[in-house]
Amino acid sequence: MTIVLDRVPTGIKGLDELLGGGFPEGKCILVVGSPGSGKTTFAIQYLYSGALQGETGLYVTLDEYPDVIKQNFQSYNWDLDSVEKKGRLLFLDASGLRRTRIKNNGPHALFSSDSSEGVGFTEVLKTLTKLVEGENVERIALDPITSVMLRYGEEVKRRRATVEFFDALSDTGCTSLVTSELKTSLLDRRFQIEEFLSHGVVVLHTLMHQGNFVRAVQVEKMRGIAHDTQIRPYQFGAAGIEVFPRDKVF
Ligand SMILES: Nc1ncnc2c1ncn2[C@@H]1O[C@H](COP(=O)(O)OP(=O)(O)OP(=O)(O)O)[C@@H](O)[C@H]1O
Ligand SMILES: [Mg+2]
Repeated sequence: MTIVLDRVPTGIKGLDELLGGGFPEGKCILVVGSPGSGKTTFAIQYLYSGALQGETGLYVTLDEYPDVIKQNFQSYNWDLDSVEKKGRLLFLDASGLRRTRIKNNGPHALFSSDSSEGVGFTEVLKTLTKLVEGENVERIALDPITSVMLRYGEEVKRRRATVEFFDALSDTGCTSLVTSELKTSLLDRRFQIEEFLSHGVVVLHTLMHQGNFVRAVQVEKMRGIAHDTQIRPYQFGAAGIEVFPRDKVF
């Protein structure tokens, strides 16, 4: 018997064509990219497009405050406030995991100003699971996982924490997107543990081609799916990231 994975449209114009329909439902996908490559844009766009279709999305911020994130995306033609007011877009502020000085921010802030000790993935997962169950969340985006992973100096511990975290995300039944920072270039690329352990990996590259910087996306892996493996150009338009699925970079 063949089990065909149901698909979840990504909301990124052109990307579903590379994926043959979208992300595999209920799986955990990693989006990897260098600074400014569009990881947060990707994450918010994924949730926003789901929200427009009536699916509740949860954005877990491990880096910037939710207000700052919303502000950064005001120039797109997205109405984040409207979907947030309807309860279709939720923000969970877990930025305290990274910060030493912590600011309590909003109803779903995880950390009060005096509780920086001992917080970790476990706390994030507990709150996340509660929100998923209580608010019928279907899409999760967690952005970025990198700073938290750096807390684990030892590779074995980091691997264990990652497995535990991805398993917990899968257990929610949501289709999850986790972003991770990429510090190396295309040719000199060191794979990170998260990439081996996630169900799928989408890489946002910034390449130098004929003296110009080019933005390009690649579906590096997507278990169980026959996907495009080429590097395809993308750009930021009025509606966010747009991929050109038939164009070549080189
Ligand atoms: N209208 C726009 N509004 C905001 N950003 C835009 C817009 N158009 C293009 N951009 C690009 O988006 C980039 C920011 O994208 P984003 O914040 O999603 O990247 P990131 O990969 O999350 O970065 P970081 O690693 O810093 O978190 C900007 O550097 C800019 O080049
Ligand atoms: Mg970002």
